[in-house]
Amino acid sequence: MPHGFSARSHGPDAQVPADLAPVAALLAGVPEPLLWVGAGNRIRMANPAAHELLGARLEGQSALLAIRQPEPVAALERAAAAAPGTRMEARYILTTPAAETIFRMVAHRLAPAGALEGVLVSFLDISHVEEAEQMRRDFVANVSHELRSPLTVLSGFIETLQGSARDDAPARERFLAIMAQEARRMNRLVGDLLSLSKVEANERVRPRDVVRMADVIGATLAALRPQIEEEGIRLSVRGLAPGEGGELPGDRDQLEQVVHNLVENAIKYGGTGGAVRITLEAHASWPGFSGPVLTLAVADDGEGIDPIHLPRLTERFYRVDSHRSRQMGGTGLGLAIVKHIVNRHRGRLSIDSVRGKGTTFLLVLPRQ
Ligand SMILES: Nc1ncnc2c1ncn2[C@@H]1O[C@H](COP(=O)(O)OP(=O)(O)OP(=O)(O)O)[C@@H](O)[C@H]1O
Ligand SMILES: [Mg+2]
Repeated sequence: MPHGFSARSHGPDAQVPADLAPVAALLAGVPEPLLWVGAGNRIRMANPAAHELLGARLEGQSALLAIRQPEPVAALERAAAAAPGTRMEARYILTTPAAETIFRMVAHRLAPAGALEGVLVSFLDISHVEEAEQMRRDFVANVSHELRSPLTVLSGFIETLQGSARDDAPARERFLAIMAQEARRMNRLVGDLLSLSKVEANERVRPRDVVRMADVIGATLAALRPQIEEEGIRLSVRGLAPGEGGELPGDRDQLEQVVHNLVENAIKYGGTGGAVRITLEAHASWPGFSGPVLTLAVADDGEGIDPIHLPRLTERFYRVDSHRSRQMGGTGLGLAIVKHIVNRHRGRLSIDSVRGKGTTFLLVLPRQ
Protein backbone atom coordinates (compact mmCIF):
# COMPACT_ATOMS: atom_id res chain seq x y z
CA MET A 1 0.00 0.00 0.00
CA PRO A 2 2.46 2.66 -1.18
CA HIS A 3 0.11 5.62 -0.61
CA GLY A 4 -1.71 4.22 2.42
CA PHE A 5 -1.70 5.96 5.76
CA SER A 6 0.26 3.37 7.70
CA ALA A 7 2.99 3.48 5.09
CA ARG A 8 3.35 7.27 5.37
CA SER A 9 4.88 8.80 8.40
CA HIS A 10 3.26 12.07 9.42
CA GLY A 11 4.57 12.17 12.96
CA PRO A 12 3.75 10.09 16.01
CA ASP A 13 -0.01 10.44 15.49
CA ALA A 14 0.05 8.97 12.01
CA GLN A 15 -0.46 5.42 13.19
CA VAL A 16 -3.91 4.12 12.29
CA PRO A 17 -5.47 1.36 14.42
CA ALA A 18 -5.50 -1.94 12.56
CA ASP A 19 -9.30 -2.16 12.43
CA LEU A 20 -9.48 1.20 10.63
CA ALA A 21 -6.82 0.36 8.04
CA PRO A 22 -9.48 -0.42 5.37
CA VAL A 23 -11.01 3.03 5.93
CA ALA A 24 -7.60 4.61 5.56
CA ALA A 25 -7.05 2.70 2.33
CA LEU A 26 -10.43 3.87 1.09
CA LEU A 27 -9.77 7.55 1.85
CA ALA A 28 -6.30 7.31 0.29
CA GLY A 29 -7.96 6.35 -2.98
CA VAL A 30 -9.87 9.64 -3.16
CA PRO A 31 -7.99 12.36 -5.05
CA GLU A 32 -9.75 15.20 -3.19
CA PRO A 33 -8.53 16.22 0.27
CA LEU A 34 -10.48 14.43 3.03
CA LEU A 35 -10.35 14.79 6.81
CA TRP A 36 -12.09 12.49 9.24
CA VAL A 37 -12.68 14.55 12.35
CA GLY A 38 -13.62 12.83 15.63
CA ALA A 39 -14.56 13.88 19.16
CA GLY A 40 -13.20 17.23 20.37
CA ASN A 41 -12.61 18.18 16.73
CA ARG A 42 -9.45 16.02 16.66
CA ILE A 43 -8.41 14.79 13.24
CA ARG A 44 -8.62 11.00 13.17
CA MET A 45 -7.49 10.57 9.63
CA ALA A 46 -6.33 12.65 6.70
CA ASN A 47 -5.73 11.34 3.20
CA PRO A 48 -2.60 12.21 1.19
CA ALA A 49 -4.39 15.03 -0.65
CA ALA A 50 -5.37 16.57 2.71
CA HIS A 51 -1.76 16.42 3.85
CA GLU A 52 -0.76 18.20 0.67
CA LEU A 53 -3.33 20.91 1.30
CA LEU A 54 -3.11 21.37 5.08
CA GLY A 55 0.31 20.09 6.09
CA ALA A 56 2.14 16.93 7.11
CA ARG A 57 1.16 16.67 10.78
CA LEU A 58 -2.60 16.40 10.98
CA GLU A 59 -3.65 13.21 12.77
CA GLY A 60 -4.37 13.93 16.41
CA GLN A 61 -4.31 17.69 15.85
CA SER A 62 -7.28 20.03 16.17
CA ALA A 63 -9.14 20.31 12.89
CA LEU A 64 -10.09 23.87 13.80
CA LEU A 65 -6.40 24.81 13.96
CA ALA A 66 -5.59 22.97 10.75
CA ILE A 67 -8.41 24.66 8.85
CA ARG A 68 -8.12 28.00 10.60
CA GLN A 69 -10.41 30.10 8.37
CA PRO A 70 -13.51 31.45 10.18
CA GLU A 71 -16.25 30.30 7.81
CA PRO A 72 -14.99 26.73 7.25
CA VAL A 73 -14.32 26.38 11.00
CA ALA A 74 -17.88 27.50 11.79
CA ALA A 75 -19.26 25.05 9.23
CA LEU A 76 -17.30 22.20 10.81
CA GLU A 77 -18.48 23.10 14.31
CA ARG A 78 -22.10 23.31 13.19
CA ALA A 79 -21.84 19.92 11.44
CA ALA A 80 -20.26 18.34 14.55
CA ALA A 81 -23.18 19.52 16.67
CA ALA A 82 -25.86 18.47 14.17
CA ALA A 83 -27.74 15.25 13.49
CA PRO A 84 -26.10 12.47 11.40
CA GLY A 85 -26.38 13.11 7.69
CA THR A 86 -26.24 16.88 8.11
CA ARG A 87 -24.03 18.79 5.64
CA MET A 88 -22.52 22.19 6.14
CA GLU A 89 -20.65 24.04 3.43
CA ALA A 90 -18.18 26.89 3.27
CA ARG A 91 -15.58 28.31 0.91
CA TYR A 92 -12.00 27.49 1.82
CA ILE A 93 -9.46 29.73 0.13
CA LEU A 94 -5.83 28.73 -0.30
CA THR A 95 -3.61 31.69 -1.04
CA THR A 96 -0.08 31.20 -2.31
CA PRO A 97 2.17 33.87 -3.82
CA ALA A 98 1.42 32.39 -7.25
CA ALA A 99 -2.36 32.04 -7.15
CA GLU A 100 -5.54 31.73 -5.19
CA THR A 101 -7.34 28.37 -5.14
CA ILE A 102 -10.95 28.26 -4.04
CA PHE A 103 -12.36 25.07 -2.50
CA ARG A 104 -15.91 24.15 -1.66
CA MET A 105 -15.53 22.58 1.78
CA VAL A 106 -18.26 20.19 2.90
CA ALA A 107 -18.53 18.97 6.51
CA HIS A 108 -20.70 15.87 6.61
CA ARG A 109 -21.83 14.54 9.99
CA LEU A 110 -21.28 10.79 10.21
CA ALA A 111 -22.71 8.38 12.80
CA PRO A 112 -23.33 9.80 16.33
CA ALA A 113 -21.29 7.11 18.06
CA GLY A 114 -19.33 3.93 17.36
CA ALA A 115 -16.48 3.18 15.00
CA LEU A 116 -17.52 5.69 12.32
CA GLU A 117 -18.30 8.57 14.64
CA GLY A 118 -17.42 12.12 13.67
CA VAL A 119 -17.46 14.44 10.70
CA LEU A 120 -16.06 13.85 7.20
CA VAL A 121 -14.64 17.03 5.76
CA SER A 122 -13.99 17.17 2.01
CA PHE A 123 -12.49 19.86 -0.19
CA LEU A 124 -13.40 20.29 -3.86
CA ASP A 125 -11.38 22.68 -6.02
CA ILE A 126 -13.94 24.94 -7.66
CA SER A 127 -11.53 27.61 -8.93
CA HIS A 128 -12.22 26.80 -12.59
CA VAL A 129 -15.99 26.96 -12.04
CA GLU A 130 -15.67 30.37 -10.38
CA GLU A 131 -13.34 31.49 -13.14
CA ALA A 132 -15.81 30.44 -15.86
CA GLU A 133 -18.59 32.23 -14.01
CA GLN A 134 -16.47 35.39 -13.80
CA MET A 135 -15.64 35.16 -17.51
CA ARG A 136 -19.31 34.82 -18.35
CA ARG A 137 -20.15 37.91 -16.28
CA ASP A 138 -17.32 39.91 -17.90
CA PHE A 139 -18.46 38.78 -21.32
CA VAL A 140 -22.06 39.91 -20.80
CA ALA A 141 -20.83 43.23 -19.38
CA ASN A 142 -18.51 43.73 -22.37
CA VAL A 143 -21.15 42.89 -24.96
CA SER A 144 -23.64 45.24 -23.29
CA HIS A 145 -21.07 48.00 -23.18
CA GLU A 146 -20.09 47.54 -26.83
CA LEU A 147 -23.72 47.57 -27.96
CA ARG A 148 -24.63 50.52 -25.82
CA SER A 149 -22.29 53.08 -27.41
CA PRO A 150 -23.66 52.81 -30.98
CA LEU A 151 -27.17 52.55 -29.58
CA THR A 152 -26.71 55.79 -27.65
CA VAL A 153 -25.51 57.54 -30.81
CA LEU A 154 -28.48 56.20 -32.79
CA SER A 155 -31.07 57.26 -30.19
CA GLY A 156 -29.47 60.70 -29.92
CA PHE A 157 -29.68 61.32 -33.66
CA ILE A 158 -33.22 59.97 -33.90
CA GLU A 159 -34.24 62.53 -31.30
CA THR A 160 -32.42 65.31 -33.14
CA LEU A 161 -34.05 64.33 -36.42
CA GLN A 162 -37.45 64.34 -34.79
CA GLY A 163 -36.79 67.75 -33.25
CA SER A 164 -34.43 70.54 -34.19
CA ALA A 165 -33.03 69.01 -37.38
CA ARG A 166 -36.42 68.04 -38.78
CA ASP A 167 -36.37 70.57 -41.64
CA ASP A 168 -32.61 70.88 -42.04
CA ALA A 169 -31.84 68.79 -45.12
CA PRO A 170 -28.00 69.02 -45.06
CA ALA A 171 -27.89 68.15 -41.32
CA ARG A 172 -30.25 65.25 -41.95
CA GLU A 173 -27.92 63.84 -44.61
CA ARG A 174 -24.94 64.12 -42.29
CA PHE A 175 -26.74 62.51 -39.35
CA LEU A 176 -28.13 59.69 -41.45
CA ALA A 177 -24.61 58.89 -42.65
CA ILE A 178 -23.39 58.65 -39.03
CA MET A 179 -26.42 56.56 -38.09
CA ALA A 180 -25.76 54.17 -40.95
CA GLN A 181 -22.14 53.83 -39.79
CA GLU A 182 -23.21 53.05 -36.21
CA ALA A 183 -25.79 50.53 -37.43
CA ARG A 184 -23.07 48.83 -39.48
CA ARG A 185 -20.93 48.73 -36.37
CA MET A 186 -23.65 46.96 -34.38
CA ASN A 187 -24.16 44.59 -37.26
CA ARG A 188 -20.47 43.74 -37.33
CA LEU A 189 -20.42 43.18 -33.58
CA VAL A 190 -23.37 40.80 -33.69
CA GLY A 191 -21.83 39.02 -36.70
CA ASP A 192 -18.52 38.58 -34.84
CA LEU A 193 -20.31 37.30 -31.72
CA LEU A 194 -22.23 34.74 -33.75
CA SER A 195 -19.11 33.60 -35.53
CA LEU A 196 -17.26 33.33 -32.20
CA SER A 197 -19.97 31.13 -30.71
CA LYS A 198 -20.08 28.98 -33.85
CA VAL A 199 -16.32 28.51 -33.80
CA GLU A 200 -16.38 27.65 -30.09
CA ALA A 201 -19.18 25.14 -30.60
CA ASN A 202 -17.26 23.06 -33.13
CA GLU A 203 -13.77 23.62 -31.75
CA ARG A 204 -13.41 19.93 -30.90
CA VAL A 205 -14.51 18.70 -34.33
CA ARG A 206 -11.45 18.38 -36.53
CA PRO A 207 -11.90 19.88 -40.00
CA ARG A 208 -11.60 17.30 -42.78
CA ASP A 209 -11.78 19.17 -46.10
CA VAL A 210 -8.63 19.58 -48.12
CA VAL A 211 -7.90 23.28 -48.36
CA ARG A 212 -5.28 24.95 -50.52
CA MET A 213 -3.73 27.68 -48.41
CA ALA A 214 -2.58 29.55 -51.53
CA ASP A 215 -6.26 29.88 -52.57
CA VAL A 216 -7.24 31.07 -49.08
CA ILE A 217 -4.64 33.83 -49.24
CA GLY A 218 -5.64 34.78 -52.79
CA ALA A 219 -9.35 35.07 -51.91
CA THR A 220 -8.64 37.07 -48.76
CA LEU A 221 -6.38 39.54 -50.54
CA ALA A 222 -9.00 40.00 -53.26
CA ALA A 223 -11.59 40.86 -50.61
CA LEU A 224 -9.20 43.29 -48.89
CA ARG A 225 -8.03 44.91 -52.16
CA PRO A 226 -10.06 48.14 -51.66
CA GLN A 227 -8.63 48.66 -48.16
CA ILE A 228 -5.09 47.90 -49.37
CA GLU A 229 -5.41 50.47 -52.14
CA GLU A 230 -7.08 53.11 -50.00
CA GLU A 231 -4.35 52.90 -47.37
CA GLY A 232 -1.58 52.83 -49.96
CA ILE A 233 -0.19 49.63 -48.50
CA ARG A 234 2.90 48.14 -50.11
CA LEU A 235 2.01 44.48 -50.18
CA SER A 236 4.41 41.63 -50.80
CA VAL A 237 3.38 38.00 -50.98
CA ARG A 238 5.91 35.22 -50.95
CA GLY A 239 4.22 31.97 -51.72
CA LEU A 240 5.25 28.38 -52.11
CA ALA A 241 7.29 26.80 -54.83
CA PRO A 242 5.49 26.35 -58.17
CA GLY A 243 3.19 23.34 -58.16
CA GLU A 244 2.81 23.44 -54.38
CA GLY A 245 -0.61 24.75 -53.33
CA GLY A 246 -0.16 24.34 -49.60
CA GLU A 247 -2.84 21.68 -49.06
CA LEU A 248 -3.89 20.87 -45.53
CA PRO A 249 -6.95 19.48 -43.75
CA GLY A 250 -9.01 22.51 -42.83
CA ASP A 251 -12.16 24.55 -42.96
CA ARG A 252 -11.82 26.96 -45.85
CA ASP A 253 -14.22 29.65 -44.54
CA GLN A 254 -12.59 29.63 -41.13
CA LEU A 255 -9.05 29.82 -42.53
CA GLU A 256 -10.15 32.78 -44.66
CA GLN A 257 -11.44 34.43 -41.49
CA VAL A 258 -8.03 33.91 -39.86
CA VAL A 259 -6.01 35.32 -42.75
CA HIS A 260 -8.53 38.14 -43.19
CA ASN A 261 -8.21 39.33 -39.61
CA LEU A 262 -4.41 39.06 -39.52
CA VAL A 263 -3.97 40.96 -42.80
CA GLU A 264 -6.68 43.48 -41.89
CA ASN A 265 -4.93 44.14 -38.56
CA ALA A 266 -1.61 44.60 -40.35
CA ILE A 267 -3.26 47.15 -42.65
CA LYS A 268 -5.15 48.93 -39.84
CA TYR A 269 -2.40 49.04 -37.23
CA GLY A 270 0.56 49.09 -39.64
CA GLY A 271 -0.50 52.56 -40.69
CA THR A 272 -1.14 54.34 -43.97
CA GLY A 273 1.59 53.77 -46.55
CA GLY A 274 3.04 50.90 -44.55
CA ALA A 275 4.43 47.64 -45.83
CA VAL A 276 2.70 44.30 -45.25
CA ARG A 277 4.63 41.12 -45.95
CA ILE A 278 2.87 37.78 -46.24
CA THR A 279 5.02 34.65 -46.35
CA LEU A 280 3.71 31.13 -46.79
CA GLU A 281 6.18 28.28 -46.31
CA ALA A 282 6.08 24.49 -46.14
CA HIS A 283 8.26 22.72 -43.58
CA ALA A 284 8.86 19.01 -43.20
CA SER A 285 9.01 19.41 -39.43
CA TRP A 286 8.52 22.08 -36.79
CA PRO A 287 9.20 22.13 -33.04
CA GLY A 288 6.15 20.90 -31.12
CA PHE A 289 4.54 19.28 -34.19
CA SER A 290 4.73 15.62 -35.11
CA GLY A 291 4.56 16.03 -38.89
CA PRO A 292 4.91 18.53 -41.73
CA VAL A 293 3.44 22.02 -41.32
CA LEU A 294 2.62 25.17 -43.24
CA THR A 295 3.68 28.47 -41.74
CA LEU A 296 2.08 31.77 -42.59
CA ALA A 297 3.74 34.97 -41.42
CA VAL A 298 1.92 38.29 -41.64
CA ALA A 299 4.31 41.13 -40.87
CA ASP A 300 3.79 44.88 -40.78
CA ASP A 301 6.13 47.79 -40.13
CA GLY A 302 3.77 49.67 -37.83
CA GLU A 303 4.38 50.95 -34.34
CA GLY A 304 4.37 47.49 -32.75
CA ILE A 305 2.77 46.24 -29.55
CA ASP A 306 4.16 46.63 -26.05
CA PRO A 307 5.16 43.18 -24.70
CA ILE A 308 2.86 43.58 -21.67
CA HIS A 309 -0.15 43.35 -24.00
CA LEU A 310 0.94 40.26 -25.91
CA PRO A 311 -0.36 37.53 -23.54
CA ARG A 312 -3.84 39.08 -23.48
CA LEU A 313 -4.18 40.03 -27.15
CA THR A 314 -6.32 37.04 -28.09
CA GLU A 315 -8.83 37.63 -25.25
CA ARG A 316 -12.27 38.73 -26.35
CA PHE A 317 -12.64 42.50 -26.54
CA TYR A 318 -9.01 43.08 -25.57
CA ARG A 319 -7.62 46.09 -27.41
CA VAL A 320 -4.36 47.90 -26.85
CA ASP A 321 -5.92 51.25 -27.65
CA SER A 322 -9.66 50.70 -27.53
CA HIS A 323 -10.49 54.21 -28.68
CA ARG A 324 -8.32 53.86 -31.78
CA SER A 325 -9.54 50.36 -32.56
CA ARG A 326 -13.17 51.41 -32.17
CA GLN A 327 -12.62 54.39 -34.47
CA MET A 328 -11.42 51.95 -37.09
CA GLY A 329 -14.56 49.89 -36.62
CA GLY A 330 -12.88 47.13 -34.60
CA THR A 331 -14.71 45.12 -31.98
CA GLY A 332 -11.67 43.42 -30.43
CA LEU A 333 -13.08 39.98 -31.24
CA GLY A 334 -10.94 39.29 -34.31
CA LEU A 335 -7.98 37.63 -32.59
CA ALA A 336 -10.27 35.73 -30.17
CA ILE A 337 -11.97 34.17 -33.21
CA VAL A 338 -8.55 33.51 -34.79
CA LYS A 339 -7.36 31.72 -31.63
CA HIS A 340 -10.34 29.34 -31.56
CA ILE A 341 -10.04 28.55 -35.27
CA VAL A 342 -6.30 27.89 -34.91
CA ASN A 343 -7.02 25.61 -31.92
CA ARG A 344 -9.57 23.71 -33.96
CA HIS A 345 -6.93 23.16 -36.63
CA ARG A 346 -4.44 22.03 -33.92
CA GLY A 347 -2.21 24.91 -34.96
CA ARG A 348 -0.32 27.58 -33.11
CA LEU A 349 -0.26 31.37 -33.27
CA SER A 350 2.67 33.37 -32.00
CA ILE A 351 3.19 37.10 -31.97
CA ASP A 352 6.50 38.84 -32.25
CA SER A 353 6.56 42.60 -31.94
CA VAL A 354 9.21 45.28 -31.64
CA ARG A 355 8.08 48.76 -30.60
CA GLY A 356 8.62 51.20 -33.43
CA LYS A 357 9.57 48.48 -35.90
CA GLY A 358 6.50 46.35 -36.45
CA THR A 359 4.65 43.18 -35.62
CA THR A 360 4.72 39.66 -37.04
CA PHE A 361 1.95 37.15 -36.48
CA LEU A 362 3.18 33.63 -37.20
CA LEU A 363 0.67 30.91 -37.81
CA VAL A 364 1.77 27.25 -37.82
CA LEU A 365 -0.74 24.70 -39.16
CA PRO A 366 -0.23 20.92 -39.24
CA ARG A 367 -0.66 19.25 -42.65
CA GLN A 368 -1.89 15.93 -41.32
N1 LIG B 1 -0.57 44.17 -36.44
C1 LIG B 1 -0.85 44.80 -35.30
N2 LIG B 1 -0.11 45.87 -34.88
C2 LIG B 1 -0.40 46.52 -33.73
N3 LIG B 1 -1.43 46.17 -32.90
C3 LIG B 1 -2.21 45.14 -33.27
C4 LIG B 1 -1.97 44.40 -34.47
N4 LIG B 1 -2.90 43.42 -34.57
C5 LIG B 1 -3.69 43.55 -33.48
N5 LIG B 1 -3.28 44.58 -32.70
C6 LIG B 1 -3.89 44.99 -31.41
O1 LIG B 1 -4.63 43.90 -30.92
C7 LIG B 1 -5.97 44.29 -30.67
C8 LIG B 1 -6.90 43.13 -30.88
O2 LIG B 1 -6.97 42.77 -32.25
P1 LIG B 1 -8.31 42.12 -32.82
O3 LIG B 1 -8.09 41.75 -34.23
O4 LIG B 1 -8.72 41.06 -31.87
O5 LIG B 1 -9.38 43.29 -32.66
P2 LIG B 1 -9.67 44.55 -33.56
O6 LIG B 1 -8.84 44.52 -34.80
O7 LIG B 1 -9.53 45.75 -32.69
O8 LIG B 1 -11.18 44.38 -33.91
P3 LIG B 1 -11.81 43.34 -34.96
O9 LIG B 1 -10.74 42.43 -35.44
O10 LIG B 1 -12.84 42.64 -34.17
O11 LIG B 1 -12.38 44.19 -36.05
C9 LIG B 1 -6.21 45.47 -31.58
O12 LIG B 1 -7.21 46.33 -31.07
C10 LIG B 1 -4.85 46.15 -31.59
O13 LIG B 1 -4.73 46.98 -30.44
MG1 LIG C 1 -8.84 42.74 -36.06
